[in-house]
Amino acid sequence: MKALICPSLGTAETLAVLDVEEPAPGPKEAVVEVAFAALNFFDTLIIEGKYQLKPAPPFSPGGEFSGRIVKLGAEARGFELGDRVMGWSGYGAARERVAVPLSRLVHVPDRLGLDKAAGLSVAYGTTIHAFRQRAELKAGESVVVLGASGGVGLAAVEIGAVMGARVIGCASSDDKLAFAREHGAAETINYKQEDLRERLKDLTGARGVDVVYDPVGGALAEPALRSLAWKGRYLVIGFASGEIPRPPLNLVLLKGCDIRGVYWGEFTAREPEANRDNLSQLLEWAGDRRLSVHIHAKYKLEEHRKAFEAISRRETLGKTLLELNARL
Ligand SMILES: NC(=O)c1ccc[n+]([C@@H]2O[C@H](COP(=O)([O-])OP(=O)(O)OC[C@H]3O[C@@H](n4cnc5c(N)ncnc54)[C@H](OP(=O)(O)O)[C@@H]3O)[C@@H](O)[C@H]2O)c1
Repeated sequence: MKALICPSLGTAETLAVLDVEEPAPGPKEAVVEVAFAALNFFDTLIIEGKYQLKPAPPFSPGGEFSGRIVKLGAEARGFELGDRVMGWSGYGAARERVAVPLSRLVHVPDRLGLDKAAGLSVAYGTTIHAFRQRAELKAGESVVVLGASGGVGLAAVEIGAVMGARVIGCASSDDKLAFAREHGAAETINYKQEDLRERLKDLTGARGVDVVYDPVGGALAEPALRSLAWKGRYLVIGFASGEIPRPPLNLVLLKGCDIRGVYWGEFTAREPEANRDNLSQLLEWAGDRRLSVHIHAKYKLEEHRKAFEAISRRETLGKTLLELNARL
């Protein structure tokens, strides 16, 4: 079978489509025929050995996927051959068939396409966890989303709006902001052209912002933290800018606010039941079309370089998919 392989750590130039051996399921595993694997920003880091998860080469990138079960392990319960599923694997999904523990799979309802389902686990799973378990977001609160048109950013705009928050989407271009508005942002800020702190003051007055959702980091973090309301919550999601911010902690004291870390992968391992609840909520919302799970583009496995380039060039809106077997 075909697999996208990272033979040694390096840029996307080093990736190659190779023939590899068919996987066999462990006792509590399934082999899934992959319809689509979704790529995330962290795939551009993992292949260079710059992400917190560091698989040893050779390995396949691709942290999430959708497809149908084609083999089951001897102790597998709750799933049947032919079931439509989506799952998350950290890495390794960019291949025709993948063996995964059943604990990392959920059933996909018929009313949701396998293309949308492929990109639902990581970005949307991270975001619902961030808003529910970490921020304890309430309807009527304001949420500022940085990088609002990217994978997790779009998820935050959409889930924030569905949860009844007033979403302020922030991004680097007017096209990206228009996209965020189409998906639920009530207001927008172009942080390349406008002063983030001043605009947030205009929009939220003396009160400030209840929640900041930050997958970007860098220079945007401090003005966003300074804009928090009393008892506001700052969600640390990631550092797509490449810079880990070091904000002055006196701001946290003065605002009686919290900086809260969000690490979805660890949450899925430590609190599997809460994660399953979150994912069933996402499947319901996506099935009802309350979440778009917008697909930026579907690339054939052989076009993987284009997919990685689009993410690295900051061009993608929503999710980027690799198409393995769209007919499933
Ligand atoms: N904590 C967790 O559990 C968790 C889970 C998933 C992802 N993450 C993290 O979340 C971050 C975003 O992931 P994603 O998959 O949503 O990425 P993405 O789709 O590529 O979006 C990232 C956004 O960041 C902004 N950005 C600013 N500077 C950038 C730069 N130098 N290069 C690329 N983008 C830049 C871009 O928006 P503008 O152009 O509008 O600025 C872009 O839309 C990553 O750091 C990832 O590791 C964390």
